[in-house]
Amino acid sequence: MADSMVDRKTRPATPLKLDDFEPAARAVLPQAIYDYIAGGSEDEAALRGNREAFARYRFRFKVLASTDQIELGSDLFGQRVRMPVHLAPTAIQRMTHPDGELAAYRAASAAGIAYALSTLSSAAIEEVAAAATGPRWFQLYMHAERAVSASFVERAVEAGYSAILLTVDLPRTGRRERDIRNAFSLPEGLRYANLDARRRADAAEGPDPFAQNVNAQTNAGLGWADLEWLVAKTSLPVIVKGVVRADDARHAVEAGARGVIVSNHGGRQLDYAVASLDALPEVVQAVGRDVPVLMDGGVRRGTDVLKALCLGAQGVLIGRPFLYALAVAGAEGVSQMLAMLRQEIELSMSLLGARRLSELSGDLLTRI
Ligand SMILES: Cc1cc2nc3c(=O)[nH]c(=O)nc-3n(C[C@H](O)[C@H](O)[C@H](O)COP(=O)(O)O)c2cc1C
Repeated sequence: MADSMVDRKTRPATPLKLDDFEPAARAVLPQAIYDYIAGGSEDEAALRGNREAFARYRFRFKVLASTDQIELGSDLFGQRVRMPVHLAPTAIQRMTHPDGELAAYRAASAAGIAYALSTLSSAAIEEVAAAATGPRWFQLYMHAERAVSASFVERAVEAGYSAILLTVDLPRTGRRERDIRNAFSLPEGLRYANLDARRRADAAEGPDPFAQNVNAQTNAGLGWADLEWLVAKTSLPVIVKGVVRADDARHAVEAGARGVIVSNHGGRQLDYAVASLDALPEVVQAVGRDVPVLMDGGVRRGTDVLKALCLGAQGVLIGRPFLYALAVAGAEGVSQMLAMLRQEIELSMSLLGARRLSELSGDLLTRI
């Protein structure tokens, strides 16, 4: 008896839920890298707000709904996905694990979900494409020089990516005070692989500020005409990431966007931004049934996924939890985390009285 009590205190807990990966990752990551991932901007109110919004909903569950078979698959941007959860684009994944993006993409593919590669990745567009065969999307930060953006899009098309996610909530980088305090910079030995490829192509001499400085990627001048340009430039569906308002969502669809991602960048950009979950209903209502709406920010439980779907999302993206799982155990860690989330979704669907995603609706929720 006494022995088992000691055991419980000293043995690192096996992760049972997504949040368990965070302390495990914190134990293996340098503090500055952990802070870069975990942190938000300024007071981190938007970061906390994303989580708090989920807690304000409760389920009005149905009973005797014959939920012995649960179906989580759906079609998204012309591809079949096995569950409505996808991996959000995040920069420089090799800062958490040497296999970085390649491992995360392999795990997403094995789970039958989409992987979104960041413009600021530490493995190149082509290298990631060669690592697995599942749905892959390319996230674009549009550069002030259109030729630079055009070259990224062409490379993504060539390498078989099936959608372009245009991130629009980063005209400038938010003020992340943990990073300022830690004097955080690109860890030794890592590089922005896509940008370096351009540098090599240009055969530039000496240090290239373009490749070294993330701020050189931000484009505060970005406007609606740039979205129209991008839509005209590519046959791939363009999905606009970082919208929290009905008017902006409508504008994006009018400009040719084929989907919208409701997001405040995980609370890393404008602090006190509205929580993604709270912004979701007005965006869904604005764009109508034919335009898929996804959301991200604070999704940590199967019940969170179900709440977002009840409010009209066709799927969600997750960011930090998969980075923590990657830090702990590479591709295996991400696979374990995705399996956990899948089990939670299946269990909660059954308890909620829904057999398939199309049965999820606002009628199953109440706000407290
Ligand atoms: C470490 C980190 C890096 C990120 N890098 C990018 C990026 O390169 N491009 C982008 O569109 N979003 C980026 N994001 C935002 C995510 O795509 C996503 O919106 C957010 O992480 C979702 O919130 P969650 O972490 O609470 O799940 C990043 C987020 C984190 C935590």
